[in-house]
Amino acid sequence: MKEAVNTVPKEWHVPLAEMLQQHLAREPESFHVPGHKYGQAMALLHKYEPDIAERFGKLLEFDITELSGTDDLHAPSGAIAKAQQLAAACFGAEHTYFLVGGSTAGNLAMVLACCEPGELIIVQRHAHKSILNALALAAANVVFLMPESDPSTGLEIPPTLAAVEQALRTYPTAKAVLLTNPSYYGISADLKPYAELVHSYHTLLLVDEAHGAHYGLYEELPTSALKAGADAVVQSTHKTLYAMTMGAMLHVQGDRINRHKLQDVLAMIQSSSPSYPIMASLDIARAMVEVRGAEMFRDGIAAARSFCSWIRESSAYYAIVESNDPQYRMDPLRVVLTTVNGFCTGYELQRRLEGYGCWAEMADERHVVLLFAAPAVQGAAEKLQRALLAIAKACSASELGLITKPIHAMQSASVELPRISEPVLFTRARMRAEDTEWVKLSDAAGRVAAEAIIPYPPGIPVLYPGEKIAPDLLLSISAMAKAGARFQGASDPGMQTIKVRRELAT
Ligand SMILES: Cc1ncc(COP(=O)(O)O)c(C=O)c1O
Repeated sequence: MKEAVNTVPKEWHVPLAEMLQQHLAREPESFHVPGHKYGQAMALLHKYEPDIAERFGKLLEFDITELSGTDDLHAPSGAIAKAQQLAAACFGAEHTYFLVGGSTAGNLAMVLACCEPGELIIVQRHAHKSILNALALAAANVVFLMPESDPSTGLEIPPTLAAVEQALRTYPTAKAVLLTNPSYYGISADLKPYAELVHSYHTLLLVDEAHGAHYGLYEELPTSALKAGADAVVQSTHKTLYAMTMGAMLHVQGDRINRHKLQDVLAMIQSSSPSYPIMASLDIARAMVEVRGAEMFRDGIAAARSFCSWIRESSAYYAIVESNDPQYRMDPLRVVLTTVNGFCTGYELQRRLEGYGCWAEMADERHVVLLFAAPAVQGAAEKLQRALLAIAKACSASELGLITKPIHAMQSASVELPRISEPVLFTRARMRAEDTEWVKLSDAAGRVAAEAIIPYPPGIPVLYPGEKIAPDLLLSISAMAKAGARFQGASDPGMQTIKVRRELAT
């Protein structure tokens, strides 16, 4: 396995971005798609919306397509191939695939490349919906592992090694184990022992590391899944590094994963006209890691630390949620904030922060997750502190209602499920409408769900179609709905009712 090399600053070299630059320098006349012709079409918009025309026109200049000399993502041999090689070397992979459909595309590709219909795969249950969609597309037979909950914070952590081993022993034909690490809250485990265990069963470790594109790039950051030995790792470069939204990478190492199959699947699920601006932004994001090295993360980490110190020392209203278990590491660029005594829900706090011009990454009943990405913006943390003080002053428990149920109780309500599920056969076929009905949420215990229920963010399903509904899960869903959670997939977003499979008359 190669070590990540970014501690040694390198020369600036962005082959993909440079190729676009060189193409434009030739002042090409476009008789090809895209129709906006390097953004020139925006001139037509100028008289209506000069500002938008200007900004958008600039953005479109780099929006080129596959021409001779611009390479092809699906059969790269020129600038894209070179940019991918540089990314592999930087992130410590043997091969890297650029993704223009986010980690979503990477998760789909990983699963589809490893799992044929009916084949068994072991999956951490609290996974992003892209993984569940992948399992349905693959028609996989899925054994779910419950993530554990960190006792000091209540935050979800990966399933225990013992649970993974038990699942591997029970299902030795499993094609892969798929884990999500770090979580949306930035808590992570070292995956090295997981990789060793999974490999000792001659199977693959796949990791959704969407929130950890920066892991392993600096000594103060947790180690990366690649370094731990995972076979394939998906990272949202756009989340914590500087790529454009949808820019992500799929890294692989070793010979357990079939790279030809991966390349085929990627060509199937990604556009045949992948965005050059997104690909170039991946190239630039990688080059910035290399030339700026550790310095790239120092300011962001320092800003997050100083914000946390301010909370600890001077705020009676807020607290930082972080694990005190040395087995787990928190992302130093991410802060999980909660209110003391629950004077305000996480959703409410997020909404109020927005009123002061501070936009958080996400919220749940108890927490607001704040991302202090690498560039620390001058004054931003002070603005956040002023907003938090103003909110605490304006809020009173009677105004917003106290959360009476402690967070641990809320979370454990959603995890009263066996640590290892029976295999669940995923299918793309939807249940026929005539076989389903809506029942009141309070009457749904023991019924079989006919829809997925996905609180968003974080986009992690708490219920899958075909799954029996546990009574405690209903309490949890209802508490989330009352606290203002938004639900994707639910036919009744207010969660008064839920779609279930019709029971056969006996
Ligand atoms: C754990 C996890 N995996 C995958 C994704 C999908 O990432 P992307 O937005 O890059 O498609 C997300 C999105 O938030 C996520 O939280």
